[in-house]
Amino acid sequence: PAVAAVLPAGGSGERMGVPTPKQFCPILERPLISYTLQALERVSWIKDIVVAVTGENMEAMKCIIQRYQHKGISLVESGVTRHRSIFNGLKALAEDQPNRRLSKPEVVIIHDAVRPFVEEDVLLKVVTAAKEHGAAGAIRPLVSTVISPSADGCLDHSLERARHRASEMPQAFLFDVIYEAYQQCRTKYTFRPAMKRQQLGCDVSFQGSPLEI
Ligand code: C5P
Repeated sequence: PAVAAVLPAGGSGERMGVPTPKQFCPILERPLISYTLQALERVSWIKDIVVAVTGENMEAMKCIIQRYQHKGISLVESGVTRHRSIFNGLKALAEDQPNRRLSKPEVVIIHDAVRPFVEEDVLLKVVTAAKEHGAAGAIRPLVSTVISPSADGCLDHSLERARHRASEMPQAFLFDVIYEAYQQCRTKYTFRPAMKRQQLGCDVSFQGSPLEI
């Protein structure tokens, strides 16, 4: 059954505080995203890879694809939020979109462009779990102590480490499940920004104005 991957790569690198968005930062003179693409291309059962980049970085991305001979990559324009970038990537694979060039996969992997160390066995595990449960993501035991501060910055309480996990990428979904979820987010939550975070947890981030979703 077909598996595709969507890579949001439209971030600005704001938190890292460098002028170049981190997905394009050179590691041994090669942009970081090229390593991530290489890691996914090595996996023979991933059929299509859709990368979401900003309009202004579209040409640079095409150059990277050519220069490092990446194969089977489709580019879409990213959005103002990571959520929107992923949605644009999903739309490139969805059956209901006009002028679609790719075929709808059974399972879609969502992986950040800035995480190049992803391994095939982890990808296989999330895909297998997604087939069984509809959605799955890589998690890790908590290494650090996580605290919840009070409004004045003092310690309110510490989380019990053994009861929590750090949520990481990659994540995988039955395509129909995640596409439907994104569509519902758009229609149901467009004018109710205050409720979005409460009602939808998981990997969906909702910064930005509600109209952008
Ligand atoms: O900022 P953060 O590290 O959470 O970004 C995770 C991934 O989401 C990065 O690959 C980044 O390029 C991407 N992103 C995006 N569109 C945005 C913001 C972030 O594709 N508007």
